[in-house]
Amino acid sequence: MSRLDDCYNVFDLREAAKRRLPKAVFEFVDRSTEDELALRNNRHAFEKIKLKHRALVDVSGRSTKTTLFGKEIALPMAIAPTGAAGLCWHEGELELAKAAARAKIPFTLATGAMTSMEKIAKEANFRLWFQLYVWKQRELSYQLIERAKNNGFEALIVTTDTIVPPNREYNARNGFLLPFHPTWRFTWDIMQHPTWFTTVLLKYLTTIGMPRNENYPEPYRRPIGTDPGTREVMRQDSLNWDDIRIFRDKWPGILMLKGINRVDDALKAVSYGVDGIIVSNHGGRNMDSAAATLDMLPDIAQAVGDKATVILDSGVRRGSDIVKALALGAKCVLTGRATLYGTAAGGQEGASKAVDFIHTEMNKTMAYTGCNGVDEISTDIFFADRESNRFMAG
Ligand SMILES: Cc1cc2nc3c(=O)[nH]c(=O)nc-3n(C[C@H](O)[C@H](O)[C@H](O)COP(=O)(O)O)c2cc1C
Repeated sequence: MSRLDDCYNVFDLREAAKRRLPKAVFEFVDRSTEDELALRNNRHAFEKIKLKHRALVDVSGRSTKTTLFGKEIALPMAIAPTGAAGLCWHEGELELAKAAARAKIPFTLATGAMTSMEKIAKEANFRLWFQLYVWKQRELSYQLIERAKNNGFEALIVTTDTIVPPNREYNARNGFLLPFHPTWRFTWDIMQHPTWFTTVLLKYLTTIGMPRNENYPEPYRRPIGTDPGTREVMRQDSLNWDDIRIFRDKWPGILMLKGINRVDDALKAVSYGVDGIIVSNHGGRNMDSAAATLDMLPDIAQAVGDKATVILDSGVRRGSDIVKALALGAKCVLTGRATLYGTAAGGQEGASKAVDFIHTEMNKTMAYTGCNGVDEISTDIFFADRESNRFMAG
């Protein structure tokens, strides 16, 4: 029996990923920053909400389908941008994008991905979104926007919350820093994971050599881990609202801002003409004291109303989490780690498993709570005890 057959939920896929990946790679995917407060808070925000099941409703015709930006998707979920799928599995971004296309949900390609947008557009084209990290020389960002447009990407997502490089202390402990200098600890780590070495790293080395950040502008498309200068040219700390105005002018498609976690920023985004707001704290990977996104969501969703589409990420691991996010005003969620664990555990098949687990769990939660369609999901299904009495009114 393969390890995937032993997995029954996303947490099992996480265990399978942990066994397969070198510790340094696994911790890069799995962990967050400093004391990992935000990572825990994100999960706690979901876990503290209790639901009331409803009796005797005919839910035999229920569906998780929804419409997002005018087109139907199979469930209110999309794949978040992560620059690490290509380290989890050989051409992991492509595997993940194919799983998303198979499940009929959107896939976001990260600026830092190791597979080019041209290849993704050719081989896994369902609904493609491109995530942009802004380059200090803005002209380089404009080139990427043009490339995404030419490759038929439907949406541009500008990440706004990685203002400075985060304190991911475990990366330093594992010798997993840029520029990359192999340490004895890291070499030993790889030797302990021969399957990963032969099926991922060696496969790259014997075909294309060390993988590159294929979506970086040409002068910076060098083998990963070798370029100490890229950090400087990708500095995000000058990014501001004037940039958003320019991106809006240059990008005719769906424009979203990712990393919004307060009401005034969300309203400002609306006034700059964005189509979507992604309430996100980067999965707790950047500012460790960040408020949980689910806690921020109700006020943001209420203020934005139907002026833009509100999407949530950070902490989604179960289908019931989607139901909770929708009840609090999100139209859709993004998954980062959940689907990366699947990719690391089994490529496209593993990523599909992650999506299927979450889809099935969402479907069952809708059935228990008496919801036939996503538009029937509201805080009416919440149980309000003292801890969560703000939901009482729902
Ligand atoms: C390994 C990893 C790499 C990531 N890389 C990026 C990135 O390049 N750009 C970005 O906007 N977000 C990135 N993120 C954040 C995700 O897009 C998303 O916001 C986050 O993973 C959501 O939280 P979750 O992992 O709890 O689902 C990354 C997340 C992980 C786990």
